Amino acid sequence: MAGLSDLDYDYLEFRTVPFYEAFFGSVLDYIYPSDKNILELASGTGFLTEMIVKKFPDLQITCVDNDTEMIFLAKKKPKLSGVGFIAGDMREFKKSGFDVVVITQAVFSLSDSEIESFFEKIHGVLNEGGRFIIGDMFAPETFFERTLYKKLWTDYMIKNGLSPENAREMLSPLDDYFRENTVRSFVSKLEDFGFSPVISPYRFWYYAVVAGWKQKVGL
Ligand SMILES: C[S@@+](CC[C@H](N)C(=O)[O-])C[C@H]1O[C@@H](n2cnc3c(N)ncnc32)[C@H](O)[C@@H]1O
Repeated sequence: MAGLSDLDYDYLEFRTVPFYEAFFGSVLDYIYPSDKNILELASGTGFLTEMIVKKFPDLQITCVDNDTEMIFLAKKKPKLSGVGFIAGDMREFKKSGFDVVVITQAVFSLSDSEIESFFEKIHGVLNEGGRFIIGDMFAPETFFERTLYKKLWTDYMIKNGLSPENAREMLSPLDDYFRENTVRSFVSKLEDFGFSPVISPYRFWYYAVVAGWKQKVGL
């Protein structure tokens, strides 16, 4: 039987991210048709990038990932031929002047102290009126929720074709992944670093979207 590492990243994404269209669709809601350029950090194989290109074909997109294999896979996708790819560490990224910065399923690869300097940096690279959109898994507020969502998610993955072993393997790193970071703690941390307003428009099991504005708010 195939182990997790034998399975293609996008194959897993379709089968494991609960209701991925709703999750990523909520991320896309905070990109505006008037936006000119977007920075996608830790873009991986370009799973979200493809959705951005489809919805906003004229947007200038810069993707950063420090895994050259991921960048290679993303660059191979014909629909991403107009995207700029940079192989590098998002913590070192220097350019500014973006209308949107987005990151999905990667913010907790940073330590808690790195997350703080990262928020400060993102505030700096955004234009006035720009938005920082984070889509990720967050720590549920209670142990009850943690246990319940783990069970529901395991069943969901198995229903989508994963073996019970692969589903369990997917979930085993989860508690260490988001540590004690809840949606609520993330919202207030973003506010501490100058984002206002900060909203959390999507929540399903562990998954949530948090978006913060660098002021100049209009709808
Ligand atoms: C789980 S994948 C998420 C990919 C994509 N954002 C998605 O939602 O499908 C995590 C990605 O974060 C990237 N990553 C982790 N730490 C990074 C860093 N410091 N700088 C740039 N990329 C990083 C990894 O290489 C990997 O491609």
